[in-house]
Amino acid sequence: MLHTLRHVTDQALAEIHEEMAIRKTQEVFLLFPLGSQFDHLIKQSLEKLGVFCLVADSGSVTAADVKKLNPIGIILSGGPVSVHQDPPPFDKEIFDLGIPVLGICLGFQMWAQHIGCHVASSAKREFGVHELIQLDDNLLFDACPFKMQVLQSHGDIVDASMEPMVKVIAATDNSPVAAASYKHLWGVQFHPEVTETVYGQQIFNNFCFDICGAKDIFPAEDVAKQKIVELRRQIDEKKVLLALSGGSDSSTVAYLLKEAMGEHLGNLRGVYIRGIDRPDDEAHVRQFFGDRSWLDVKIVDESESFLQVLKGRLTMPRKRRAMRSVYKEALEKQIADFNASFIVQGTLYTDISESGRGYGTRAKKAQIKLHHNVDLGFSIPELMPLSDQVKDTGRNIGRSIGVPEELLTRQPFPGPGMVVRIEGKVTADKLRVARQVDDIYIQELRRHHLYGSVWQAGGVVTQSVTTCTKGDDAVSGLVVALWAVWSVNGFTAQAAELPFDFLKLVARRITNEIREVGAVVYRVSDKPPATIEWG
Ligand code: XMP
Repeated sequence: MLHTLRHVTDQALAEIHEEMAIRKTQEVFLLFPLGSQFDHLIKQSLEKLGVFCLVADSGSVTAADVKKLNPIGIILSGGPVSVHQDPPPFDKEIFDLGIPVLGICLGFQMWAQHIGCHVASSAKREFGVHELIQLDDNLLFDACPFKMQVLQSHGDIVDASMEPMVKVIAATDNSPVAAASYKHLWGVQFHPEVTETVYGQQIFNNFCFDICGAKDIFPAEDVAKQKIVELRRQIDEKKVLLALSGGSDSSTVAYLLKEAMGEHLGNLRGVYIRGIDRPDDEAHVRQFFGDRSWLDVKIVDESESFLQVLKGRLTMPRKRRAMRSVYKEALEKQIADFNASFIVQGTLYTDISESGRGYGTRAKKAQIKLHHNVDLGFSIPELMPLSDQVKDTGRNIGRSIGVPEELLTRQPFPGPGMVVRIEGKVTADKLRVARQVDDIYIQELRRHHLYGSVWQAGGVVTQSVTTCTKGDDAVSGLVVALWAVWSVNGFTAQAAELPFDFLKLVARRITNEIREVGAVVYRVSDKPPATIEWG
């Protein structure tokens, strides 16, 4: 699965087709981010509509690549530069392919310049909220009011007074060409992706469905409904045990079960396993499910069993394998205790695929790492309602059935928790250090409003030691490695460029507050070749 499409090779095409099959769609949109702050919001807007959108690198994806992929629509974001100075690299022949294009701000100016329009530096720059007035009936603004609020943020404007004449469809006070079209090219000078543009989502809807003709919609709501019906059919009135972690996937499954089991919710029990978990996981379970108003939650402490089984296991694969047995046994005990007929987990397609499974083809698939919850072989049937979903689509399902946003937007974290964040021996002391590191790092990400802008972040207690001086003594201290990534679905990821000042602050807190730590380093590798977790 691709994070950013760089070239349409046979392998990339195969991966895209695999993802399209998971999403049950024949249609793909391409988004070329041109450096806008709001790029990701465009992707989220398309996801809300239930269409599949791939992010493409404007610096490497060519018209030939686009032809091979054959998207049904293309979106170009805004950007911080001008078409006259340092324009982003982009193969302009893409505009000539006849595929509908929606250019936003700089993206609009790029196609306008390409067809021969003059892009001028505006005498009055527009920043902030403005009133847009429609000038002509058009598909892009279908179901939008004649006058509407939009967010503008630009210096340059498209001059429509000269040939070739574009069709001007909307204007603001300062922008006589706030939106226009020319054949299959559509452009808006404002930003439909931000909430300040009240009808922005409608505009994306019109572009995708009316202009590009998208049909394969699998909005989260429909998928959720199908899953609820399926769960109801499978479970009937039987007893169900749910493995609950405090993260978005198992929380979403809890809410699906709530809908599916209705008046039989007394037959549902959630189990949270304490032992190798992160510092705030149990708190989230208690906060959101602890009042037992509809879910009977049981918290079981397996700290000792985990430490026992991890003794003498030094490599990550051996530790992963060992901890799976405790996890499975703990759940088996609860299955017996509750007399459950089904065990339900929040396993995603990503977990299954990385564990070496996926579609039943004869093609060999590598086992990247064995996930804690895959192929455990329980004594009763296992249901995995999200096993055909990836992180972002799973979150969309949760959103559509009322899972609290705070649970949905929690960063992903691994089931094996701290086990994969401690190199070498896992001891009670190392567990404490790893938890403290995580606590400080996540606290500071939240405090600096960075938590939501990275996909996942974590810290690893490495086996390296460093000579350090604390007080007047020279001692040796542990080296902690911090990492943070940008990703969409966890299949690929890029090292997040966290501000250096922020990293210094986190490092200072870690070395000051955790006696055993002597130095902090930051991982800058992407996935691939690295994986998101250390081990
Ligand atoms: P990697 O480290 O393989 O991880 O790039 C991809 C995503 O999966 C999470 N992860 C796990 N999640 N059980 C889980 O439920 C596991 O055994 C496991 N291992 C990794 C990881 O945190 C990342 O979000």
